[in-house]
Amino acid sequence: MRAIRVEKFGAPEDLILEELPAPKPEPGEVLIDVHAIGVNFIDLLVVGGQYQSLPPLPFVPGKEVAGVVAEAGEGVTTCKPGDRVMAQLECGGYAEQAVASGRYCYPLPEGMDFARAAAMGMVYLTAHFALAERSRLAAGETVLVTGATGGVGLASVQLARALGATVLAGVGSPGKAEAAKANGAHHVIDLAGGDLKDSLRDQVRGATGGGGADVAIDPVGGDVFDASLRALAWGGRIVVVGFTSGRIPSLKTNYILLKNISVTGLHLNDYFQRDPAGVRRVQEELFRLAAEGKIEPKVMRAYPLERFAEALNAVRERRVQGKVVLMTGRAARGIFPNGS
Ligand SMILES: NC(=O)c1ccc[n+]([C@@H]2O[C@H](COP(=O)([O-])OP(=O)(O)OC[C@H]3O[C@@H](n4cnc5c(N)ncnc54)[C@H](OP(=O)(O)O)[C@@H]3O)[C@@H](O)[C@H]2O)c1
Repeated sequence: MRAIRVEKFGAPEDLILEELPAPKPEPGEVLIDVHAIGVNFIDLLVVGGQYQSLPPLPFVPGKEVAGVVAEAGEGVTTCKPGDRVMAQLECGGYAEQAVASGRYCYPLPEGMDFARAAAMGMVYLTAHFALAERSRLAAGETVLVTGATGGVGLASVQLARALGATVLAGVGSPGKAEAAKANGAHHVIDLAGGDLKDSLRDQVRGATGGGGADVAIDPVGGDVFDASLRALAWGGRIVVVGFTSGRIPSLKTNYILLKNISVTGLHLNDYFQRDPAGVRRVQEELFRLAAEGKIEPKVMRAYPLERFAEALNAVRERRVQGKVVLMTGRAARGIFPNGS
């Protein structure tokens, strides 16, 4: 089977497409014939050797796949051979076959295609844990989502709207406003113009009758985090999700004191280690919301597996709205002709 391997940390172009033996499932694991693979910003960090947990070299990257169960190891109860599933993995997804723990294998709802299923994992889980668990967002509250048309961002916009919040979507260029609105944003906040600290606070105040945002979900960090903090309402909560801007911000704690602000972090990987049942419950809830039409993964483009570097570079260069996926040979034809 073909797979994409990291042999040395570096750029997407440094990855190598190779013919490898099919992996074997151990007890509790499942072998999946992969049709679609979710591409995430985190994959860039993993491939570049900058992520906090890295497998030993060489390895196949990729944290989420959708496909058909080829073989189920002893003791697997969540799915069986022939089932259409989505699965979350530590690594190994950029391949025609992948092994996943049965614990993180989910049968697909009727009618959900593989490309969308592969986009249903990490970004929606992140959005859900950030909104429901870390910030305890309540219906009727106002939430600012920065990087709002990226993977985590768009999932957060959709989910916050589904949870009954008023959604302010922070976008880095005016061309992305339409995508934010089409996915449920009530207001669009321009993150590009002028002195960001003032302009973001003024725009958020304008959209909230002067009060500020109750919650901010921030996958960007840097200046965007600094400005988002100042745009919070009294008693507001901000969730640190990531640092796509490249700068990890520092805090002046007097500001937190003065406005009774809570700053909280999210490390999704930790939930996989510490609360597997919770992760499974949330992912099943996300599939239910998708089946009910309350959220809808947006796959902007699908690339054949061998064009992995183009897909990763589209993410790196901020050209993606929603998600991009890779499709294996057996699935690359037909569904998204743009990607072939
Ligand atoms: N904490 C966790 O457990 C967890 C889980 C998943 C992901 N993450 C992190 O969340 C972040 C987002 O992941 P993703 O998959 O959603 O990535 P993505 O799809 O690439 O989206 C990233 C967004 O960040 C914005 N952005 C990128 N570079 C920027 C820059 N230099 N300055 C300002 N804004 C910039 C872009 O928005 P515009 O182009 O519109 O500005 C883009 O929409 C990453 O840092 C990832 O590592 C964390």
